[in-house]
Amino acid sequence: MKIDSILKYSSFTLLSASLLLMGCALETENSHAYLPDAQTEAAGVYIKQCGACHSVPHPKRLSATAWKNILVVMDKRRQERKYPPLTEAQRKKIMRYLDAHAR
Ligand code: HEC
Repeated sequence: MKIDSILKYSSFTLLSASLLLMGCALETENSHAYLPDAQTEAAGVYIKQCGACHSVPHPKRLSATAWKNILVVMDKRRQERKYPPLTEAQRKKIMRYLDAHAR
């Protein structure tokens, strides 16, 4: 390999590596930006508790009543996987968040 092609190659890898790293940083910062009120505390609880096993569902996906039923099913999924149950405070925040943004 000639020296100039080596240089070209290595700057290309460097560039792609830094783009990749930047992509990851953006990903972790904004990965839930699609959610309504994503910066609020309630959204934080929702993201953490409802994104532990699968991607975080958008609240507009279901009606408030349907979310209430889903929460019961997810309580069972938590039990099956030996996850600690939601605390009352967490449940209230999640329900309020879903109520406010449901379909
Ligand atoms: C312990 C793991 C776990 C946690 C935590 C969890 N889920 Fe799930 N969730 C599952 C599994 C497994 C499925 C797929 C099987 C099913 O539908 O029950 C699922 C499916 C779903 C579905 C799709 C159901 C359907 O019929 O299409 C929704 C919506 C959902 N979860 C919402 C939530 C919400 C909201 C929370 C937070 C309160 C939550 N999940 C937390 C395990 C979990």
